[in-house]
Amino acid sequence: MATSSSTHFFLLSLVFLVISFFQLSSHQQLCLKDEYLALMQFKDSFVIERQASTYPKIDLWKSQGVDCCSWEGIWCDQNTFHVIGLDLSSSCLFGSINSSSSLFHLRHLQYLNLALNDFNFSKIPSAMGNLSKLTYLNLSRSFFAGQIPQGISKLSKLVELDLSFNLNYLHQGLLELKKPDWNSLAQNLTRLEWLDLSLVGINSPIPKALVNMSSLTYLHLGHCGLLGKFSRDIFQLPKLQVLDLVNNWELSGSFPKFHSHNQLRVLDVGNTTFSGELPVSIGMLSSLEYLDVRSCDFSSLVPPSIGNLTKLQVLILLNNSFYGEDFSFFSNLTQLTKVFLTLNHFTFNEVPSSFANLIHLKSLNLFGNQITGHFPSWITNLTDLRYLDLGYNMLQGSLPSSISRLKNLETFIVSYNNLSGIVEFDTFLELKSLKSLGLSHNNFSLVIKATTNRTIQKFKGLGLASCNLNEFPEFLQNQSELNVLVLASNNIHGQIPSWIMNMSASLWILDLSHNNFTSFEESFVVFPSTSLLYLVLSFNFLRGPLPIPPPSILYYLVSRNMFSGKIPSQFCKMTSLQVLDLSHNNLSGMIPQCFGKLSSMLVLNLEGNNFDGPMPETWESGNKLKAIKMGQNILQGRLPRSLSNCKMLEFLDLGNNKIKDTFPSWLGALPKLRILILHSNRLYGTISIKVPKTDFLFPKLRIIDLSDNGFVGTLPIDFLVRWNAITDLDGQNATYLRAYNHYFMLNLIIIPYQFPYSMTITNKGRKMEYAKILEVFSAMDLSSNKFEGEIPEVIGNLKGLQLLNLSNNILVGPIPRTLGYLTNLEALDLSQNRLTGRIPTQLTRLNFLEVFNVSHNHLTGPIPQGQQFDTFENDSFDGNSGLCGMPLSRKCDCCNSKDLPPPSSTSKGNEDSGLLAKFSWKLVLLGYGCGFLIGIVIGNIAFTRKHEWFMKTFRISYPRRQREGCERLNKRKQRR
Ligand SMILES: *[C@@H]1O[C@H](CO)[C@@H](O)[C@H](O)[C@H]1NC(C)=O
Ligand SMILES: *[C@@H]1O[C@H](CO)[C@@H](O)[C@H](O)[C@H]1NC(C)=O
Ligand SMILES: *[C@@H]1O[C@H](CO)[C@@H](O)[C@H](O)[C@H]1NC(C)=O
Repeated sequence: MATSSSTHFFLLSLVFLVISFFQLSSHQQLCLKDEYLALMQFKDSFVIERQASTYPKIDLWKSQGVDCCSWEGIWCDQNTFHVIGLDLSSSCLFGSINSSSSLFHLRHLQYLNLALNDFNFSKIPSAMGNLSKLTYLNLSRSFFAGQIPQGISKLSKLVELDLSFNLNYLHQGLLELKKPDWNSLAQNLTRLEWLDLSLVGINSPIPKALVNMSSLTYLHLGHCGLLGKFSRDIFQLPKLQVLDLVNNWELSGSFPKFHSHNQLRVLDVGNTTFSGELPVSIGMLSSLEYLDVRSCDFSSLVPPSIGNLTKLQVLILLNNSFYGEDFSFFSNLTQLTKVFLTLNHFTFNEVPSSFANLIHLKSLNLFGNQITGHFPSWITNLTDLRYLDLGYNMLQGSLPSSISRLKNLETFIVSYNNLSGIVEFDTFLELKSLKSLGLSHNNFSLVIKATTNRTIQKFKGLGLASCNLNEFPEFLQNQSELNVLVLASNNIHGQIPSWIMNMSASLWILDLSHNNFTSFEESFVVFPSTSLLYLVLSFNFLRGPLPIPPPSILYYLVSRNMFSGKIPSQFCKMTSLQVLDLSHNNLSGMIPQCFGKLSSMLVLNLEGNNFDGPMPETWESGNKLKAIKMGQNILQGRLPRSLSNCKMLEFLDLGNNKIKDTFPSWLGALPKLRILILHSNRLYGTISIKVPKTDFLFPKLRIIDLSDNGFVGTLPIDFLVRWNAITDLDGQNATYLRAYNHYFMLNLIIIPYQFPYSMTITNKGRKMEYAKILEVFSAMDLSSNKFEGEIPEVIGNLKGLQLLNLSNNILVGPIPRTLGYLTNLEALDLSQNRLTGRIPTQLTRLNFLEVFNVSHNHLTGPIPQGQQFDTFENDSFDGNSGLCGMPLSRKCDCCNSKDLPPPSSTSKGNEDSGLLAKFSWKLVLLGYGCGFLIGIVIGNIAFTRKHEWFMKTFRISYPRRQREGCERLNKRKQRR
């Protein structure tokens, strides 16, 4: 190999000599022999991947003679004839490159451009650092990988350095900058004017030295994993024209006070955590052409000084909390071509008419604000418009027919407004460029004439939800390029046509929910398409087996139909599945074990079917599940302990099954669990803390429903008060709990999709369905068990509680006054117990109390009057023979001793005393203070019937109560 290549170069040298002899006679200039050889050798070290469309300049070299100084892409010093420039960008080079490459013999290189080739994931050779004269180095988009070599930071003459967009086929960055760290790079390369490290993995904060790079004009650091806070001084670099920090999620910062000497033309901090305000001084950036702050945390008025930025072409404020009412300053911004005010808090009375001046406007997106008024008719004068999205606002009235003048329109979205009227689909067929149309969720009546035999444009997206359609639009049959089809919430009856299966080859989203479909035209439905990501068939009357989606599906929602049979085994292959909602169908059989292994799953909703057998046992660690809902089935057996691997779980609903187990205190280790619903099962035993003093016990739990089970013992309140989540109210956070809240952006159509958590809880004896749950909502339902003993006063610590239901137990003693501290309570149900004493007047403090029920107890004395108590009716107090006062007809006898509570009932005492007999010796043996003793006993005898009884009677851990317990214990001992 070595000999053959040296022979080869001997021959090359010979050729060089012969040809140069002839050339010498005509030309003065000639490139140097060793550089000629180096270039030829460099060329030969690659495969040239010629493509039809390109003619690589390197192919010209042969025909251009031996004077490499005259070759395409090469230039030489006029005096020394050394090669000083090499531009092989886009030359179809394929192969790797290392430090022994002949390239590094070209020691005089000042300019080197190898961009847009394929270096096959090789490293940037460290010898690059030997080309010490380089002022320009461009290795972008050429499949270099790995660590950027130390040597680069020796190139202190560099003026331009571009290492950007070296990506793998998944568009992930391949290069890393760790050592040299990027501070030493910045320290040495002080002459840099252009630095582009886009998609280089830097993963560290911006180095201080960057502030001293006073020549910097272009700085591209998009998607570098930058961390920490961005130094404001960098904005003030005197020559800076382009600052691009896009997609650095963990980079925070805010805008400085800008000065008029600032030369910024492009300012892009999109998808970072920049926050604060858009300062008034932004109006000083008189050169600004491009401003992008999408998806940051800005929250401010949009300052009218923006009207000063007369060169502005692109303004992207998407997805922040900007507000403002007056946008008259827009009329100055006549160069604007693109305006995205999407997803902010703009509250215009109408779409600002100042936009009418923006005659060059191509894209206008106001989606997701609070804009009222009519659809602006002047918009039809903006004939350059290609993209118009006014969705998710509060526009009223009808669409003007003049929209047909917007001949260039490609996307037209007005979904989610209050627009109305009859809309002729034909109007849109005149817009020959139109590819995406969103009319969903207005009050339109869409009229689609028979268009099947006309050739019409191929749409990419059609959002026609809630358009009063009665039939499946026939023209869709020929729409072979459709990616998004939403026909939800119409009145379409009958069968889902079979051609939709063929069409689904192009579909990403198919939403046919909320219609009256009864079946598929085919009996066994398999979606052949591999592109389908989102299939929604919920709220129809579909029967038969579940349709089989492609294995790549992400979201499969078919709730509230009449699908039956077992879950087909194909679902086990759907490893991308994120949301599976099969709720409220007639499905049966066992829940497949594989469901615990689908590692992408976020939401699994199987509620309201006939699934039986045990729950899957296979919940693997590292899963992403946020919600598991399997309520209203016939599940049996124990709760699988592997559920404790679901570390992301927020919502677990297994209510209304036949699960037989003790209280799953081990779920307390789940750090995010907010809602635990286990009502109407066969759970038994006492509720205790196995390991006392665990700090992470149910740290986020706010809603617990254990009602209608067989729990015994005292109320587990002292256990529950440790749940800080209930005691600390989160403030005025009025957001709803949901597993996800996405805006799909497909072909620039934004489709909002959410999965709000919903649940059923008993409120005033009625099952209440909460379709959405406020984040601050907090509820505890322990009703219909066999809890005994008194309601402990510590219950007053659960300050966040809004719903408390202890009804239908065997509770005795008084209603604690401390309940008056639960000032957020909206419903309090203590009915059907054996409570005695008076209703504490402190309860009149509960200003939000709407439901109050103490019926069927042994309460006595006057009913408190005033406040909310004036609104409660008789049935709140029924079945307490000793109560008096409004609203009951029985008047209170002032100062009558009859109203004092009777001595507490001992009806249970007799039956229990036998058990106590076998037990008390233990207490005597241990013989310390009650609290201590109980701790030990709990540890020793778990899960015996006796223990349960013991817990019921004596497990009280607050000092005052301990004494009580001891006294009662002693009394009983004496009785023995
Ligand atoms: C900075 O450049 C000098 C001279 O080119 C070089 O000797 C030194 O090693 C470089 N420093 C770093 C940290 O690379
Ligand atoms: C935002 O940036 C992160 C990287 O920091 C990236 O993973 C994500 O895809 C970006 N989001 C968008 C919408 O571009
Ligand atoms: C607008 O621009 C003018 C001149 O360029 C400048 O004097 C003025 O201060 C700017 N106004 C604002 C509010 O930035």
